[in-house]
Amino acid sequence: MTVSRARPAAHPMLGISLAGTGMALPGRILTNDDLAAMVDTSDAWISQRTGIRQRRIINGEQTLLSLATESLQAALNTAHLQGADLDMVFVATMSPQMATPGTASRLASDVGATGAGALDVNAACSGFVYAMNMATNMIHGGTARHVAVVGAEVLSELVDWRDRRTCVLFGDGAGAAILSATDARECGCLYQEVGSDGHGWKELYCPRTADDLPEDDQVFSGTFNTLQMNGREIYRFAVTRLEKCIDNALTATGLAPADLDAIVVHQSNARIIEGTARRLNLKMDRFYVNIDRFGNTAAASIPMCLHEMAEAGRLKPGNLVLLAGLGGGLTWASSLWRL
Ligand code: ACO
Repeated sequence: MTVSRARPAAHPMLGISLAGTGMALPGRILTNDDLAAMVDTSDAWISQRTGIRQRRIINGEQTLLSLATESLQAALNTAHLQGADLDMVFVATMSPQMATPGTASRLASDVGATGAGALDVNAACSGFVYAMNMATNMIHGGTARHVAVVGAEVLSELVDWRDRRTCVLFGDGAGAAILSATDARECGCLYQEVGSDGHGWKELYCPRTADDLPEDDQVFSGTFNTLQMNGREIYRFAVTRLEKCIDNALTATGLAPADLDAIVVHQSNARIIEGTARRLNLKMDRFYVNIDRFGNTAAASIPMCLHEMAEAGRLKPGNLVLLAGLGGGLTWASSLWRL
């Protein structure tokens, strides 16, 4: 079947709205006490060091694609759109089911968007914000009117369940956002940034064979195809880079921290978010936190936050919302929105 999806281009001066959000939750809840029965850890250690109390893990029937599909279908419903309306589907993930095909093309077809552009983005925990920025630029460039941006992860399949340093941190999940061109020119992305520093790749990586191990490896748990992490280095990177991302966005737009209605950052550790709030002299209620219930879901964490915030009425027209993601690569991305 040949599918043609030539569409009228959006005018570059149109605004962009967050037209819908969605989320899909894995069926199994794994508590800190459950983990304490598997490795030498405790609820007190995990919750005090990270803020995590439980995480979701896929049940037997769920897959990365099923989570992504459920979250995108929910986002389409809230946007009152059909899959066929989508011009582009991004899936941000670092845990694809297969090396090829990309998840995005199967997802697009599963929601009725066959023929739409489809691309997987792997920038680890920054992937969703990277994809949001790419989606924004496509709409401004006139090549798309409605773009789906999905963050989905099944990190339980990449975790070494015998390594207490990492297995307590991660969870599965998916979240989706629909960006649509709108006549309301005041709405949209005011500032965006993407960046990387590959020198830090070995602070968080997933080796397939011994050839992938860094020469001076300090962290390998002994199990290939699982996440290896230097927690202290990643913590340091996350704190300094998050502050820089926020500072860059505020400086470029002439805004003060108190002007932001909400700051939605990657959920890697509640202590990182609390420290950032202190340094910005902001109360924690300006930040959204759900790491206690979902753990670190990498590229899925920010869209899951956005969906919960939308459901709770915390994303109001006119609000200024800053998104910031940081992760393996090392990578980072930010996106400042007027809703
Ligand atoms: N339970 C009990 N003890 C543990 C556990 C555990 N699950 N894990 C490690 N420990 C022990 C260590 O062995 C160590 O023991 P020792 O002092 O006898 O050697 C002790 O606890 C302290 O270990 P540290 O690694 O120094 O603990 P730290 O305070 O740095 O906390 C943590 C570790 C939570 C991983 C933290 O470094 C962190 O959050 N880093 C960021 C990780 C992250 O966000 N990764 C996500 C990917 S990238 C991103 O999202 C930005």
